[in-house]
Amino acid sequence: MAIFVPEEKIFEIKNTADIVEVVSETVLLKKTGKNYLGLCPFHSEKTPSFTVNSEKQIFYCFGCGAGGNVFSFVMKQENLSFPEAAHMLARRYGIEVPTQTMSPQQKKSIGERDSLFEINKQAVAFFCNVLSNSTAGEKARVYLKKRGMAEDIVNGFNLGYAPVGWDNLVNFFSKKRIPEVLVEKSGLIVARNKNHTQRKNGFYDRFRDRIIFPVFDVSMRVIGFGGRVLDDSLPKYLNSPETPLYNKSRSVYGLHKAKQKCRETNTVYIVEGYFDLLSLFQHGISNAVATLGTSLTVEHVRLLKGYAGRFVLVYDSDEAGIKAAQRSIDIFMKEGVDVRIIVLPEGYDPDSYLLEFGSGSFEKAAGNALGVMPFLMKSAVKKHGFSIEGKINIMSDLKAPLAAISDSVARSLYIKKAAELIDIDETAVLEKIRNVSAEKKVAGKKRVSNFNVSPIHGKTMPLNRGNGKVHPANWSRLEKQIIAMMLQFPKILYEISNRNILEYFENDTLKSIGGSILKYKSGTGRQVSDLVSFVQDKEQRRIIASLAIGEDCWDNDGCMKLIEQFVYSRNRNKNSLLQKIKAAEESHDNELLLKLLTEKQIQAGKKR
Ligand code: UTP
Ligand code: MN
Repeated sequence: MAIFVPEEKIFEIKNTADIVEVVSETVLLKKTGKNYLGLCPFHSEKTPSFTVNSEKQIFYCFGCGAGGNVFSFVMKQENLSFPEAAHMLARRYGIEVPTQTMSPQQKKSIGERDSLFEINKQAVAFFCNVLSNSTAGEKARVYLKKRGMAEDIVNGFNLGYAPVGWDNLVNFFSKKRIPEVLVEKSGLIVARNKNHTQRKNGFYDRFRDRIIFPVFDVSMRVIGFGGRVLDDSLPKYLNSPETPLYNKSRSVYGLHKAKQKCRETNTVYIVEGYFDLLSLFQHGISNAVATLGTSLTVEHVRLLKGYAGRFVLVYDSDEAGIKAAQRSIDIFMKEGVDVRIIVLPEGYDPDSYLLEFGSGSFEKAAGNALGVMPFLMKSAVKKHGFSIEGKINIMSDLKAPLAAISDSVARSLYIKKAAELIDIDETAVLEKIRNVSAEKKVAGKKRVSNFNVSPIHGKTMPLNRGNGKVHPANWSRLEKQIIAMMLQFPKILYEISNRNILEYFENDTLKSIGGSILKYKSGTGRQVSDLVSFVQDKEQRRIIASLAIGEDCWDNDGCMKLIEQFVYSRNRNKNSLLQKIKAAEESHDNELLLKLLTEKQIQAGKKR
């Protein structure tokens, strides 16, 4: 892999960037001992196994095995290449990076994203200016006022107005000499149908005569736009298409403003509309976000999980709530978030409800919000009633959601509850659910492989005091312990290299990692996180992170004992082979002798 960012810049970025800070932007971390712990953003889990070590500047997930340093984290989280991640971190920490060493293609894609952010930013300025300072914006100002939007909300969310006309924005950008094909990539302007008679220019404005809602990411950059008509024409809302910056199933509206309060309250309200969100904020409920014309996706949940552990979904009808709850129950259960559902009275959405009843009523409704299963049970009863027919329908509505509950305790409690609800035997419910599960299993499951780590605890190392015999299966475990020790107790490196301990290693990956550590640590003041980026192999990086992040406490005695045990077991194995050869020679068992000699040769080869 070619290095696109100069090495000294990588060091500067690494020394400046703080992994805890960077991870904290998307993952809620709690300090436990030497490490920080949170829910892994890379796989579904309910109990935190995602570990960040501030001192070593690395992360590792004991659940899925993801691990690395701050660069690996950003790459994985944002789906970026290494140079892109380096650039992103550099930007975040105000470090200037020359770009001339990048390949043209690399340069283009990074350059393009930056240009699109810039274009969006300028478009926001344009729309805002039209809204607040122009006569054209008067009707939009009137509209927002009519809808009760306070000035600080309008300004705070950078609302704007796209005026009437087909080429206001096209002209705005052409005056700035920004290529139309680039602006087109932002989704703000659209190429005219090529088959039509060519007009003066080939592009027109996507948003015309609409209130504009810029969509920001958590880093306060504008990734896309929504636009609402001022009357009853259709479509009511128009949104940015998918662009290199904008992906609606991954973005939510309002998180840039809500993140702080979400963290403080550990709660996020999720609504469906732009105005619903603005209304909540206006009524002082600022831990809220809106999905952008889609239902909640697993990506949304993962994103929001980094800010709050409790989700309150607000729906404007039973039907909408049930649909959403049924659709996303798997996601919630798997992601381990506590979800409550509020259904507003018929005919109200959060915006109109707040306007009419105020925030007190809303908060009361939120207090009475039900969990997903209780909500589905209640709705099923309401819908079908308790006739025999009704009960059968209730069961049929509930079986899939019940089967989706992955926590066995929760599942059996709800099964019991469902059985009680319709007054049938629990085993009958169980049978229904088994059928569902069986159908699902056919689809097959993906399992994540995990480099098995069994940290040992320094001082009292589990030494085999008996005959010192170590089963070959444990060799790799001992080798892992030695690597962990090298990473966590660098003072021992001299001993390791002096006694050629790595020469005894059976596991080639671990041996190569050990070699990298020795090579790397020979420089002064170098850290594990540096090593992680020095090692090119992804699998090796994960192993290093996993072995470095343990909370073991090493001391010189413990380390020496481990080394002795390791050497002893290896020599013993070697000796026993020699003894066997001798015996085979004596008993003239040539076949066995040949086999043993080959084995010896293999061992000798490995040592070389
Ligand atoms: P609603 O139809 O419930 O509208 O759409 P709303 O939010 O109450 O809008 P107001 O109050 O009449 O202004 C909910 C959300 O679905 C998306 C928008 O994000 C909207 O806020 N939507 C709706 C679209 O993307 N396109 C549409 O045509 C309609
Ligand atoms: Mn509405």
